[in-house]
Amino acid sequence: MSAPKYRLAGEPGEGKFYIETYGCQMNQSDSEVVVAVMQEAGFVYTDSLDEADVVLVNTCAIRDNAEQRIWGRLAEFRGVKRRRPWMLVGIIGCMAERLKDRLIEQEKAVDIVVGPDGYRSLPGLVRQAAGGTKAVNVLLSREETYAEISPVRLDKNGVTAFVSIMRGCNNMCSYCVVPYTRGVERSRDAETILAEVRDLFGRGYREVTLLGQNVNSYNYNDVNFAGLLARVAEVSPLLRVRFSTSHPKDFSDELIETMARYPNVCRAIHLPAQSGSSRMLELMNRRYTREWYLDRIAAIRRMLPECSISTDLIAGFCTETQEDHEATLSLMREAGYAFAYMFKYSERPNTKAQRTMRDDVPEEVKTARLTEIINLQNELSLASNRAEVGRHVEVLVEGRSKRSADEVYGRTSQNKVVILPRMNFLPGDYVRALITDCSSATLIGVPLG
Ligand code: SAH
Ligand code: SF4
Ligand code: F3S
Repeated sequence: MSAPKYRLAGEPGEGKFYIETYGCQMNQSDSEVVVAVMQEAGFVYTDSLDEADVVLVNTCAIRDNAEQRIWGRLAEFRGVKRRRPWMLVGIIGCMAERLKDRLIEQEKAVDIVVGPDGYRSLPGLVRQAAGGTKAVNVLLSREETYAEISPVRLDKNGVTAFVSIMRGCNNMCSYCVVPYTRGVERSRDAETILAEVRDLFGRGYREVTLLGQNVNSYNYNDVNFAGLLARVAEVSPLLRVRFSTSHPKDFSDELIETMARYPNVCRAIHLPAQSGSSRMLELMNRRYTREWYLDRIAAIRRMLPECSISTDLIAGFCTETQEDHEATLSLMREAGYAFAYMFKYSERPNTKAQRTMRDDVPEEVKTARLTEIINLQNELSLASNRAEVGRHVEVLVEGRSKRSADEVYGRTSQNKVVILPRMNFLPGDYVRALITDCSSATLIGVPLG
């Protein structure tokens, strides 16, 4: 009998799988579901590529450069396969969904392609590929939420965890590929969310981040997002609760009031604006205006004065003029963002913008505008951090600082990173501290007596 071409669970060497994750928090959370599904089927998780019989790459398709990075990585795996020919490569996630079998046609290193709704079928497809037949499942689902699967936590701090509360997106922002890669919006059963959160708290976790593309439209058996947030916050006053992402069009006063009622719901709101120009927002199909957005900011400042606000911004969307760009800069100043993710517009195949508009802002103009946006945000972040100097804050310790063995780091409710002297603090401790100094990225604190 000839030796098996591929090594799998139960065979000599076992079936060890390794997973690499690109893209957003949703993808990080999905990778934890994938590990749970694979382990349940008998595969053994390894965090070392050198040991892997199966490499899974959880991919992102949001911008062209995200996909270019993956192609580069796949070329490297082709090299690894020359040394270990039995190794299988599986492309999963958003780029898998977008490109489907074309991935297998374009890169011979790829053996398996599975989209975000197909993870339960992954073990079977890996075995099929091990038998020599390339395997693809890119079906999207209207129901799949992986509700009852207990994700295997991959981040090792043991303090903070992501909890997925919904999947997909119905918003159809004209620039965005997500509705095509993740399908229609669906909410996860609230009871399974609560069970997961209670289990995490029982195991020592002290912070959960509830995840969805638009958490404000969560709805399961008449529990809306404010209702869900309240129930999660009630699991324990010692559990911090964050959530992401909020769509400004659905960001309600009811939600702000709920946050205000629970001190353990973190005073940090991520509210992607994308642009400060109502004309751009209309073309982007965001379904709010600059005025609506600023009204939401005013409501937050009024009802939750200690809240930090962060955002996402796109520079150089189709037809963007200098005036539109300046509207983004002035919106940034008015909102006083603590933090922002900032991107150059990247045209994505088959989106409404690609089909009906021209990507007509020259690359060098996009770059110049993005640079201005980044420079302004650095100023705003520094100002926001300087305002913390002299204040007393509560820090949830997450781990040792990378900078020095004598320091630990953690976060404030406002999601700002604080460096503290190590003393005998452990991950999961709450520490009252005085902020003594800052940069635009971090705060420096000393513990209070
Ligand atoms: N659902 C979230 C965002 C998901 S994508 C929301 O609507 O807020 C994360 C960010 O990527 C978006 O907020 C947007 O700023 C950016 N983005 C999405 N598509 C993009 C594109 N084609 N080019 C550049 N940036 C894009
Ligand atoms: Fe994309 Fe818009 Fe959905 Fe966010 S809300 S994922 S930007 S379509
Ligand atoms: Fe996230 Fe990228 Fe998909 S941002 S939803 S992994 S396209």
